[in-house]
Amino acid sequence: MTFPHSPFQIRDVEVPNRLVMAPLHEITDQPFRKFIREVGGVGLVVSEMISSEALVRHAVKAEKMMAATGERPLSMQVSGGRPEALAESARLCEAAGADLVDLNMGCPASNVTKGGAGSALLRDMRLAERCVTGMVKAVKIPVTVKMRAGWDASQKDRGEFMDFLRMFENVGIHALAIHPRTRVQQYTGHADWSIIARAVATGVSYPIIGNGDVNTREDAFRMIEETGCAAVMIGRGALTNPYLFRQILEPDLVVTTPMRIDATLRLFQILLDLLEPREALHKIKKIGAWFTKGVPGGHGFRQNLHAASDPVALMAAIDALRHQAVS
Ligand SMILES: Cc1cc2nc3c(=O)[nH]c(=O)nc-3n(C[C@H](O)[C@H](O)[C@H](O)COP(=O)(O)O)c2cc1C
Repeated sequence: MTFPHSPFQIRDVEVPNRLVMAPLHEITDQPFRKFIREVGGVGLVVSEMISSEALVRHAVKAEKMMAATGERPLSMQVSGGRPEALAESARLCEAAGADLVDLNMGCPASNVTKGGAGSALLRDMRLAERCVTGMVKAVKIPVTVKMRAGWDASQKDRGEFMDFLRMFENVGIHALAIHPRTRVQQYTGHADWSIIARAVATGVSYPIIGNGDVNTREDAFRMIEETGCAAVMIGRGALTNPYLFRQILEPDLVVTTPMRIDATLRLFQILLDLLEPREALHKIKKIGAWFTKGVPGGHGFRQNLHAASDPVALMAAIDALRHQAVS
């Protein structure tokens, strides 16, 4: 079995293994990507979604999201529903050093879909086609798409995603990630991996990346076995356990509580190196809460984490958690 160690290609971009960190809004920024690469095991990382409308009006916050140094390969994800803005934002990502540019066709948040972006594109295949075509024509780097199984159960049951798959092939995308929930499901229920299997079975020329509910090494192997997807994309599983990619590659790796606490500390150090202290604090409050799920003393830690008003208080909370875990 080639999974998960073998490399795969997204056109001419070589991804060193079959494990992809999912794009996560306000999480997979440059510090987090640096961190997760340092922990190891991940083959490809994807930026958080960046609004194409914000990029074309040169909003500082959006431009900062394109920050990337020495990350290879790196995919930057853009969102939007206007072909011209998406084409221009793809060019900006390419100029900022992206190896791949990805179109978000999955975000269920109503503030995104009401502007015609994210999963709203699943309701308008002609517009989606113009958006992807614009991006493909605008850049030399490969363009990829991340989509859901449909807007709602009836669209999913009609199998409309199959029409999207063929349209993507005609337009010339180079990989597709599928999170097989509908927009209406948001994050409830289960990811229906049979959709990924059906997508693979179409024999489209680009690799299909499976996503959704991979939380353990066993899940990753099962997804590959059940669907035949080319790679596995992991979001929340890697947030709860940042060693998950390594565990998939290294069956004997045991993740201990001190390792998880060290991870929290290391991410905070990277955040402090790369961001203003206030921003670093805000981010670690959000991500540290995920990292310590199930850790003994984690509940009290999360309370201290939220109360911490400066980096010193936060370090003290991490130390207290460590003492509690080893005592
Ligand atoms: C906090 C959070 C933020 C997310 N942000 C994005 C995003 O920016 N772009 C995107 O395409 N998907 C986003 N997603 C969806 C994930 O990439 C992924 O498709 C979903 O969580 C299912 O995978 P998982 O079960 O491995 O988490 C987000 C999900 C979560 C939980």
